[in-house]
Amino acid sequence: MKIAVVPGDGTGPEVVSEALKVLEVTAARFDFEVETTPFDIGGERYLRTGETLPGEVLDAFRHGDAILFGAVGHPDAPSGVLEQEILLRMRRELGQYINLRPIKLHPGVHSPVSGIGPEDVDMVVVRENSEGLYVGKGSFTAQDSEFEVAVQESVNTRFAVERCIRYAFDLAVNRTEGHVTMVGKTNVLNYAGSLWERVFEEVSEDYPNIGTAYAHVDAACLWMVEDPSRFDVVVTDNLFGDIITDLGAAIQGGMGIAAGANLNPEGVSMFEPIGGTAPGFEGTGQINPLAAIGALAMMLSELGEKEAARSIEKSVARVAGSLPSLRAGEMGATTSEVGDMVADLVHETVNV
Ligand code: IPM
Ligand code: MN
Repeated sequence: MKIAVVPGDGTGPEVVSEALKVLEVTAARFDFEVETTPFDIGGERYLRTGETLPGEVLDAFRHGDAILFGAVGHPDAPSGVLEQEILLRMRRELGQYINLRPIKLHPGVHSPVSGIGPEDVDMVVVRENSEGLYVGKGSFTAQDSEFEVAVQESVNTRFAVERCIRYAFDLAVNRTEGHVTMVGKTNVLNYAGSLWERVFEEVSEDYPNIGTAYAHVDAACLWMVEDPSRFDVVVTDNLFGDIITDLGAAIQGGMGIAAGANLNPEGVSMFEPIGGTAPGFEGTGQINPLAAIGALAMMLSELGEKEAARSIEKSVARVAGSLPSLRAGEMGATTSEVGDMVADLVHETVNV
């Protein structure tokens, strides 16, 4: 497999290097060939050259099998530029229309929410990744006057809503519980919410064995904290998905373990720790690499190396449960030591 690697900025390179360490051990142990190519993308390059995501890099991504991503962001870059010109552009250009974010509390991991345990937290959020409020459409009228009006448009096509909801149901078919909750705000979003509601209803008829539920996004936030066991697969729009997955990261023990994938199921997908650049921890050796290693497991699973992926997932779960905390600076081990622990387990474990 040909993997494009984007270490990026901040703590991105440190966590990606641990993921690559685990990848090397995994490839040897499960006997597959992997070729990794690093790409210099991110705030550093932007400030140096003004380039964000050049066309030839996108082309190189298109010719590979997947992208392993660290994080991009820079305190000196104007807010929104790197996000829009790198992350959102990559999603759009590569057609990564699903944002998949598993939320799982591993045994032994401390959740900041007291009274919830591993048996309560095992869900996956399927976030629509191409539309909604993320299309960047809208207008200013009478800008800078006291009569200024800003309009931000949420675009929801039946095509994209349906493929996203179908993806969620297909995912549920392969899970033990097999239940899909749609999260929205149908009581207020009279257009977008109505379309999502109708399509959810229609698609669900094709999956008679899959249970369904609906939750308004505000109530979903409450339940994710008070009773996350209600959720198995959650499907939602782009902005709601963005928000509830940070909440999800918190209940599973923090960004240190939160991995995600920007998927084009028919094309090239990108896998990342969702926590960002964590500039306060750059170069300290204190950042948790488990999210990046979890992203690697998602990548291998998506590329068909299921057994290898499972081995990494189990090793990550074991290491997570053995650390005093998953939070940067509180792990009781360095970034590289945590990477070694996972690599050693993958290396040792036979027939997981
Ligand atoms: C995420 C991030 C991005 C998003 C930002 C950086 C544009 O928060 O991947 O969740 O909102 O999608
Ligand atoms: Mn986010």
